[in-house]
Amino acid sequence: MATRKSPPKSSVLLVGAGGTLGRAVQKELATRHRVIAASRKGKHKVDITDSASIRRLFEQLGKVDAIACAAGHVHFGALADMTEALFAVGLRDKLMGQVNLAMIGRDWLNDGGSITLITGILAEQPIRYGTSASMVNGALEAFVRAAAIELPRGIRINAVSPNVFAESMPGYAPFFRGFEAIPVARAALAYSRSIEGAQTGQIYRVY
Ligand SMILES: NC(=O)c1ccc[n+]([C@@H]2O[C@H](COP(=O)([O-])OP(=O)(O)OC[C@H]3O[C@@H](n4cnc5c(N)ncnc54)[C@H](OP(=O)(O)O)[C@@H]3O)[C@@H](O)[C@H]2O)c1
Repeated sequence: MATRKSPPKSSVLLVGAGGTLGRAVQKELATRHRVIAASRKGKHKVDITDSASIRRLFEQLGKVDAIACAAGHVHFGALADMTEALFAVGLRDKLMGQVNLAMIGRDWLNDGGSITLITGILAEQPIRYGTSASMVNGALEAFVRAAAIELPRGIRINAVSPNVFAESMPGYAPFFRGFEAIPVARAALAYSRSIEGAQTGQIYRVY
């Protein structure tokens, strides 16, 4: 019987690798890929709200096979209290931070590489205080669907849209009453589908 060689390890840049989601994604991918962990602190520094820092990181790293993001912040607050400045937090961080990561990163991806962004259930299932999160997640999902049809060189792009994580419920439970929290490891599997699968323009809902 012919023996099958396992494919060579690919390099995955994972932004937000130290967070609740990032740690789970790293655990899921680490045995099969070379995961480059990045965030605002640590060896590979990047702040997704700062395009220059995204460029600097890629100049240091060189080409990669996959870019995955598990970072992105929005302001949570009552609609009555939301201001232009508070909406701008999510636009600058979770929305444009990830869009810029994708747009700058695309030139640093090998042919056939992939981009995986993070959204969340609030795109479809709103909660009180979540207007900015819903708006930003919805915009990201529309960006992913649209960018997928224009990305060159076989580069794919997908988003992972998880339910609230069981691991985050100690802090989030009062805002997510009645939601069926998922183990964060399930959300990490969707990163594996995006990076190791063949689809593009997908929103992997992990509810
Ligand atoms: N928690 C949930 O239940 C849940 C559910 C659905 C979706 N999500 C989404 O999943 C994402 C991650 O959530 P999480 O709960 O895992 O967050 P988290 O535990 O706070 O982790 C965030 C990670 O991102 C890094 N980070 C923060 N701001 C950054 C920036 N500007 N540039 C680069 N890295 C940055 C942080 O490290 P440094 O401080 O070192 O930068 C940290 O490693 C968020 O977009 C969130 O909306 C979360």
